[in-house]
Amino acid sequence: MASSSDYFSSFSRASLPLLFFFFFFFLLHSDASAQLSTGYYAESCPRVFDTVKSVVKSAIQQEKRIGASLLRLLFHDCFVIGCDASVLLDDTPTLLGEKTAKPNNNSLRGFEVIDRIKTAVDKVCPGVVSCADILAITARDSVVFLNGPSWEVKLGRRDSRKASFNKANTDIPPPTSSLANLTAAYAKKGLSVRDLVALSGAHTIGQARCVSFRDRIYNDTDIKGSFAKLRQANCPRTAGSGDDNLAPLDLQTPTVFDKDYFENLVGSKGLLHSDQELYNTRGSSSAALVKSYSGSTSAFFDDFVAAMIKMSDIRPLTGKRGEIRKNCRKVN
Ligand code: HEM
Repeated sequence: MASSSDYFSSFSRASLPLLFFFFFFFLLHSDASAQLSTGYYAESCPRVFDTVKSVVKSAIQQEKRIGASLLRLLFHDCFVIGCDASVLLDDTPTLLGEKTAKPNNNSLRGFEVIDRIKTAVDKVCPGVVSCADILAITARDSVVFLNGPSWEVKLGRRDSRKASFNKANTDIPPPTSSLANLTAAYAKKGLSVRDLVALSGAHTIGQARCVSFRDRIYNDTDIKGSFAKLRQANCPRTAGSGDDNLAPLDLQTPTVFDKDYFENLVGSKGLLHSDQELYNTRGSSSAALVKSYSGSTSAFFDDFVAAMIKMSDIRPLTGKRGEIRKNCRKVN
């Protein structure tokens, strides 16, 4: 009678080829090995960077604020499922996009610039570069044109075939958020308090609507009186009146990417409630980071770059997943 060890060794000998087969099948079909890389288009589209840059440059020359709007698009893309260009999809009878979700509706801008970039890129290398990668390069170029830091963008994302209206509502934190809410929202995406504070420094550029900061300028107590008055002048107390009136997120230099945003927070002049929250819990690591960035451009820039790279890495579609959209607004 065969012993049990003979039995197992003959079993494993017989099944070894089968195991190898499954192993190689897995390697071939899994995306585990597919990762983003800075040289992703080195062969297939070496002109992608120059092409994106020239369209971003002309858009910012026409209107400086668009640089801020383009940077924000990447945040609103990456926080909803992942960096997969889902934010760019228009509504259709069979697809409810993210554009009308609360954080985006009547607020997100820059879609026409992305269309122009896609057309220009597809002219030099048709069907190669994803809309998700275009968003990542565009965000970097926008920061650079407004005097901010530069970094090498990792590429190889593919575009989603779906969007999530619900996740756009739940996963992008509102401007009424507390520090605890913000910390939790970032942790859910694998981002730390350091990433949260550094990324919030993006509010050194761009504008917000009265509806986003009305409560803060009328009801918050941790706001400098003269600053609240200044903003009240163009943002009426009554809900519904002047909702779309704009104010700069950084009252000093809204078209320059610098550390003034953090100086504002130290002076209780953050425009959004969520901004001021970062400095308000004295003794917290978040307040310490605000203080340190307010005194050091390089500390801010270094952490901002690291956090942008992390944020741009949230759940990309790689390998055979997703598609390269022909038109960034529609699935193929
Ligand atoms: C920490 C959580 C965040 C909250 C609660 C928040 C909230 C907001 C709000 C309410 C506005 C104004 C929208 C409007 O009134 O139409 C805004 C604008 C903006 N946000 Fe954020 N944001 C956050 C993080 C970020 C991040 C991570 C980035 C980019 C890395 C970013 C970039 C921007 C930019 C550049 C603008 C100005 C856009 C423009 O002028 O078109 N924000 N944000």
